[in-house]
This record gives sequence, C-alpha cells and structure tokens, in this order.
Amino acid sequence: MEDTVAPVAQQLDSQKAPVFDNPDRNLAMELVRATEAAAIRAVPFIGRGDKNAADGAAVDAMRTFLATVAFDGVIVIGEGEKDEAPMLFNGEHVGNGRGPSCDIAVDPIDGTSLTAAGRQNALSVIAVADRGTMYDPVDAFYMDKLVAGPEAIGVISLEQSIGDNIRELAKAKRRDVEEIVVAVLDRPRHAELIEEIRAAGAGTRLMRDGDVAGGINASRWESRIDMCAGAGGTPEGVITACAIKALGGFMEGRLSPQSDEEHRKVIAAGHDLTRVLALDDLVSSDNTYFVATGVTDGQLLDGVRRKGPLIRTESLVLRSKTGTARRVIAEHRAEKWLEKDSHRD
Ligand code: FBP
Repeated sequence: MEDTVAPVAQQLDSQKAPVFDNPDRNLAMELVRATEAAAIRAVPFIGRGDKNAADGAAVDAMRTFLATVAFDGVIVIGEGEKDEAPMLFNGEHVGNGRGPSCDIAVDPIDGTSLTAAGRQNALSVIAVADRGTMYDPVDAFYMDKLVAGPEAIGVISLEQSIGDNIRELAKAKRRDVEEIVVAVLDRPRHAELIEEIRAAGAGTRLMRDGDVAGGINASRWESRIDMCAGAGGTPEGVITACAIKALGGFMEGRLSPQSDEEHRKVIAAGHDLTRVLALDDLVSSDNTYFVATGVTDGQLLDGVRRKGPLIRTESLVLRSKTGTARRVIAEHRAEKWLEKDSHRD
C-alpha cells in the first residue's frame, strides 16, 4: 500500500515547509460560544430533576449567541415545530443574516435526562453544513446507526451482521476481536444486538443516553471505543454525521421506527426503510462544522466547572474542510457577563 503519511511528514519537517494556503474563516470558532453559553446556563439545572427547564435555559442561551454570528442559518433540526418550541424551531432563521447560507442542526442538550439526573455525558451541540445539504428526517424519530473511525471505510456496513462488522474492523485495525469495544445505548430494544456483540467476542460499553458522544468516541483515535451501533435519534444521527465528516470516519444509518405510529408516518412521508444511508446521504456537503461543549463530565469532554466567579468549559470544535479538530478550554468570568447585562440598555 502506498505510504501517504511519510511524504507529508517529511514536508512538514523541512525548514522550507509551505505556509498554509489561503486560511479562511472557521465558522465553528464563533459557534463554540453558543454551545459554551448553553452548557453554562444548564448548570443550575444539573441534578434538579427537571429536564425541560434545563433544556429551556440552554436553548435561550444558545439562541442569544447564535444571533451574533455572521451567517444566514436556517434551523433544519431543532427543538420541534414552531408551536411546540418557541425557540430554535425548525425553519427559524438564525445568525445576523450576512455571510454563508447554512443548514443548522442544534441539540442544546444531548442528554437532557442525564442533566436532570446529574449523570455524566451530557453535551450541548451545534452542527452546520451548506444550505440544503442535511438529510431531512421529517417524521422519522429513530435510526439504526453504525459509526467507526477511518479504518472502517469500505470494511463494515449495516448490510452485514454485527459479528462480521466486528471481525472486519478488528482485521482492519490489526487488533484481536477481543480488543474491540462497541458502544450501544442501553435499551431493551438492543438486547439481541448486545448479545451478538458479546458472542462475537467483542466488549460493550452501554450508554444511558447521548449517542452523539458515542459516535464521536467511536471515530476518534484517542478513544477506547471502536464502534457505535444501534438505534438512536434520527436528528442526533444527522448531527453526528456532520462531526464524522470532519473526523474522516465512517457512518451509515437506516431508519428504524420504534412504534406503529412512527412506522405509519415514515412510510406516508415516502421513506424507504430498507435504504442504507451513507455519510453523504446524511449530509452531502463536504463543508461541515461541528461544535460541542460538555455540560456534565464525560468520556469525550469535561463538564462545566465553577470556582467562585470563574467558569471553565471544554469544547470540541471540528471542521471538515480542513479536518482540524480542536479542544477549546475556556475560562469565563461571570462578573463580566453580569456587568455587560447591566449595560445592555
Ligand atoms: P435528548 O437528551 O436530546 O432527549 O436525547 C438523548 C438521547 O439519548 C440521544 O442521544 C439518542 O439519540 C436518543 O436520546 C435515544 O432515544 P431513546 O432515549 O428514546 O432511546
């Protein structure tokens, strides 16, 4: 196989290395302020048992910060329809209206129940892609997902059994099957899947909630998770796809309605339940951005920490055009915000 890494490394090591060509704006570097604000606002609601209140506070904060960003965004995956969700509803325009036209998918808190219970792994998330390029889930709430890192491309598929996928991925990663770890949402619907994973010889990591983080962990070289499998939210699937594009990983989805009503609606909307959606079907643009800030501590990101007036956040900032993945640790000073608030009018 051709070694593509060595020549690049040589070039970078050379003192005559070229400067980066035409660096341009990275929208995600601005969007991260919106997920930071949402995560910070959710903190007083951690462990207080009210997931809607936590979500409402995060939505409010996210919306305020999105309004400052120079872009013309339309929410295609938001908090529901206008009448049910007063803010960040599907079809709402966000941003200051100048700059690139984009589709936006938001999940102000992925893991509202985790937040309300005071459990780990809740994130605040925004994904962005060129206008008209995100898959529209319409009435499809659930989707089977298969996510892994770059080694899985051309090797695993939803068309194969999970056992075959595990064996093929182990081969591609030059590891023993016993070393492969698969993240799965801990739900009764996954009982058989979990059994099959273990029967194949791999280990499971059962997640209470939050399969956006599960998918990203499966695709990141620094994580112990090798694959994320099973049915989760379709909106979360599209959000994950924007991150996976930026990480260069593998993802497929297939709609998987979990109730008769959902099944009926999905068929009526013209969806094909046998169709395997490739990464490009979930988001066709190669210009995606993804930002996430930890609300509570998790494997992917630290949650919000507070010490007196100091607030620390950790975020992941991804961009597909350059493939850059940044971890942004920010220290915020609460008193400055309060000062600003009092000067607002
Ligand atoms: P919310 O916190 O946004 O409700 O989503 C949490 C979540 O675990 C998602 O990460 C996942 O895709 C979905 O719910 C799974 O749905 P269910 O809890 O119905 O199995």
